[in-house]
Amino acid sequence: MVKQTSGQKIKRVAVIGTGLMGHGIAQTFAVMGYNVNLLSRNKTSLEKAMRDVEWSLNKFVEKGKITEKEAQTALSRIIPTTSYEQAAKDIDLAVEAISENMELKKQLFAKIDQLSPIHAIIATNTSTLSVTEMGNATKRPHQTVGMHWFIPPQLSQLIEVIKGNDTSKETLDAIMELSKNLGKIPILCKRDAAGFIVSRILVAVFNEAFWTLHRKEASKHEIDASVKYAGGFPMGWFELVDFVGVDVEYDVSKILYNSHGERYRPLLELTEPLVKANKLGQKTGQGFYDWSKGRPNIPAELKEKYDVERSWAVAVNEAAWMLQDNVADPKSIDLGMKLGTGWPFGPCEYADNKGLDNILSTLQSNYGRYGL
Ligand SMILES: NC(=O)c1ccc[n+]([C@@H]2O[C@H](COP(=O)([O-])OP(=O)(O)OC[C@H]3O[C@@H](n4cnc5c(N)ncnc54)[C@H](O)[C@@H]3O)[C@@H](O)[C@H]2O)c1
Repeated sequence: MVKQTSGQKIKRVAVIGTGLMGHGIAQTFAVMGYNVNLLSRNKTSLEKAMRDVEWSLNKFVEKGKITEKEAQTALSRIIPTTSYEQAAKDIDLAVEAISENMELKKQLFAKIDQLSPIHAIIATNTSTLSVTEMGNATKRPHQTVGMHWFIPPQLSQLIEVIKGNDTSKETLDAIMELSKNLGKIPILCKRDAAGFIVSRILVAVFNEAFWTLHRKEASKHEIDASVKYAGGFPMGWFELVDFVGVDVEYDVSKILYNSHGERYRPLLELTEPLVKANKLGQKTGQGFYDWSKGRPNIPAELKEKYDVERSWAVAVNEAAWMLQDNVADPKSIDLGMKLGTGWPFGPCEYADNKGLDNILSTLQSNYGRYGL
């Protein structure tokens, strides 16, 4: 077997894909001293990505986080290219951040496998797809791994590191160590389970809010006001779905339902009409809320209208499933929710503080009423 690359020895990285995530990932590597081959399939998008990096580096300079010289040096470390051969040349790691499509990702993994040095690790930034399946498209599945960044990659502290079925311990260790060297806090997802850690808990909580609305137990304003102003979460659930993208939530919820079953039954009659009408949330100006004039107004006086314990109970329940299935440990789950989404507590610590008996009673009461 080929000797694995340790996090410390990773020097040159290919970042593939220049959409929302790719340029931020490339920038993070470059600022932290890594050489980056940044690949896009077309020149226009590549030029835009380089402009985006430059703009973002300037923001860091304005805020005094880096000097102008450091920004210039970081920029000079990124080699933009449209050639896969050039992108894969002499790399120790490839991070793929192309569209969320398994066929495209498998083709890319196979191509990078053919073109890159034998010791290189191939990582995917997928939010939902199987790391194992992508790894199986290569001849080095033990050197493939999930490296799931959060948006915006330049600022978010969290990285989920996902073990595919064949990922070796050396590969995992290398990516955990590398993430720390990038100044991030990595959490380990020990199994290639759909939704990994953070998205899985979020979608469970979104679903609970959707059903509550659907059953007319509370309005979206009431739910969001309670979640924000009574629960201390940074955004209401409908506000957050709009922020993430109703289409993204819609796709992920179906994947989670197929993988994890009944408790993820998505309420498609709520989200599908929005997706079909291109009401995708903030990015299209309209979703659950109207974003055309900025952030929606969620009146704080509605903050007692929805019992936030219901959201917590669902989050704790999902965390319990992860513990049972050996997907993650409690500390990683809690860190993930706090760093990835700004939750005031992690679900495991919340459960311990609140009392597991109380959480159980909320879950049993909901299950008794709704069978979900
Ligand atoms: N947007 C987020 O908040 C977010 C967060 C974490 C992870 N992710 C994941 O990161 C990945 C990228 O997401 P995004 O939001 O940047 O997507 P995006 O749609 O903004 O960008 C994807 C880019 O990949 C390009 N592309 C497609 N096939 C390619 C190929 N074979 N070679 C090179 N480029 C190719 C597309 O042209 C596009 O520019 C996805 O897997 C997504 O699930 C996204």
